Amino acid sequence: PRILVLASGSGTNLQALIDASRERDFPGQIVAVGCNRPQAFALERAAQANIDTFIVNHQDYGSREEFDGALMAEIRRHNPDLVVLAGFMRILTTDFVRALRGTMLNIHPSLLPKYTGLNTHQRALEAGDKVHGVSIHFVTEELDGGPVIAQAEVTIDPDDTPESLAEKVQEKEHLLYPIVVRWFCEGRIHLGTDYVLFDGELL
Ligand code: GRF
Repeated sequence: PRILVLASGSGTNLQALIDASRERDFPGQIVAVGCNRPQAFALERAAQANIDTFIVNHQDYGSREEFDGALMAEIRRHNPDLVVLAGFMRILTTDFVRALRGTMLNIHPSLLPKYTGLNTHQRALEAGDKVHGVSIHFVTEELDGGPVIAQAEVTIDPDDTPESLAEKVQEKEHLLYPIVVRWFCEGRIHLGTDYVLFDGELL
């Protein structure tokens, strides 16, 4: 399968996927990396790995619809089987999400359905939670709301800060995303109406 990764920032999750895709038995190939920010370090990581890159800068477009249209045109050009959002910090339009239904994954730094949106680490701390973590889900029209495929937990310690917690969660992200992308490429996970099938079984 052909994998296209969208990122906005440092791209540590992209790096984890690049490293995993170099394993001899990895079932997919990262064919392109797209960014909405021209200065994103993710672009350099892709270039280092000889992966095609493209930039669709949201500041060049007057509306979400125009931006998403341009982004979709770039995506189509690469004909991916899977689109992986890896720290892609743009809200996507309903039409865009629908067009890629069942073929787009996102990683979110919380144990969904808790803490959709931003500042998840701080919010988990403020709530006095004992555990926190990361979720990988299919992207649907609902922001951070699509059916969850996998989660990894971390323990919140009394002396944790949003920064220390972010670090712990990221470590899990880098382990979990390559595993889930591998499952997808092996044809093991499918999006149903509002649920996920894993090896044909309800998750
Ligand atoms: C990750 O923490 C991800 O969960 C969040 O954005 C961050 C991306 O980090 N949505 P990176 O660009 O992969 O380093």
